[in-house]
Amino acid sequence: METIGIDALALAVPNGYLELSDLAAARGVPAGKFVEGLGVRQMAIAAAHEDPVALAANAARRLLAQSGRDPSEIGLCIVGTETAVDHSKPIAAYLHGLLGLPSRCRVYETKHACFGGTAGLLTAVDWIAAGPSLGAAPRVALVVCTDVARYELGSAGEPTQGAGAVAMIVSARPRLFELELGASGSFSRDVHDFWRPLDRKEAVVDGHHSVACYLDALTGAFEAWRSVAGSEPLLRTCYHVPYGKMAKKAHRHRLGLDGITEAEAARSFEREVAPSLILPSLVGNIYTGSLYLALASLLEAEAARLEGARVGLFSYGSGCTAEFFSGRVANGAGAIVDRWAIARSLAERTRLTFEEYEAIRRADPQVDRAPLGTLSVPTGAIAYLGIEQERRVYSN
Ligand code: CAA
Repeated sequence: METIGIDALALAVPNGYLELSDLAAARGVPAGKFVEGLGVRQMAIAAAHEDPVALAANAARRLLAQSGRDPSEIGLCIVGTETAVDHSKPIAAYLHGLLGLPSRCRVYETKHACFGGTAGLLTAVDWIAAGPSLGAAPRVALVVCTDVARYELGSAGEPTQGAGAVAMIVSARPRLFELELGASGSFSRDVHDFWRPLDRKEAVVDGHHSVACYLDALTGAFEAWRSVAGSEPLLRTCYHVPYGKMAKKAHRHRLGLDGITEAEAARSFEREVAPSLILPSLVGNIYTGSLYLALASLLEAEAARLEGARVGLFSYGSGCTAEFFSGRVANGAGAIVDRWAIARSLAERTRLTFEEYEAIRRADPQVDRAPLGTLSVPTGAIAYLGIEQERRVYSN
């Protein structure tokens, strides 16, 4: 059977970021709690014009340019998000216009907390597997994960915010990452660990309960995966990363299921998981895109040496549903990733002061009603410009 998976991947993050040590100083907390305790150094802060549509469109536009794909090739566009900008019109519809996708393209949005992007990816894989055979054009999908993560100012969740979008081309014979079709385990349960009522921009979270729910879901999904996945070991694993320490806890928990001691798990973490946490530690939690940011981090650090290696992926969406699945780094991925320079581009962002961060957050409630022309918007990237006649307007 033909391979299916991620053919190309690109990222868009806001221009501004906050150092977690600056947040800690302002909140009267030792910096070590956020930096070592949670495993986060910097978090991306979205300005008013960098809404989830703009982030998604910028990631997708970069993806098309880097991969040499023409928008006319895309037959399915799914956007996973839990911070949508409208109760009805999906971000995928905005992307259809901003990217010039063809009218025969199916577009929609998926939601299940941080699992929405994985729902999109797995659906795209099924859609390609069911696609036309000989003679017809091969099916190509665009899956975009985009979010702006917000918790209440001063809350325990505040150091685990972030913002960004990951866009992926999903196709047959992928050049980056091949998914193992059928090697997948699911787990779901109705829990209240993290949610966002309709009238709020900030998430409500039962923090320590959410950690326990994540680990329970990992047990269920991993055991379901293991029952179908054969005995070949995983050389690396990428977890959903609300903050780096959570991935460390997850790895220790998963190895504990096999009776592996804490000391051995700690050694394994450095080799098997740590490379996937470099980019998340500089961007923060990007919800739906978080697992794929971890995968990008792993590939940017090690793709050439990992070609052909089996990699585990764990996606968790509060509420909750989860999936453990696996794939392989494609042959030739190293040469593609050599051209990325994601970590280098993050170093060019603007460091915000704590006061600038708070000002952005305090203005949040007005942003979705801002009349066109009242927001300050730099030129270059696709940006949210404000509201005209109840419609969101974007530059292109
Ligand atoms: N130096 C070094 N480490 C320190 C320290 C210091 N000075 N002070 C504290 N620490 C350590 C603590 O020992 C702790 O480490 P362990 O977990 O290994 O014990 C760590 O820092 C965090 O300390 P606390 O547990 O006291 O932190 P907290 O209670 O204030 O907040 C949290 C932690 C509950 C996770 C909070 O950040 C939160 O609510 N985050 C949002 C929810 C979340 O991300 N949940 C994750 C699972 S749900 C999910 O994954 C979906 C999603 O994306 C949201």
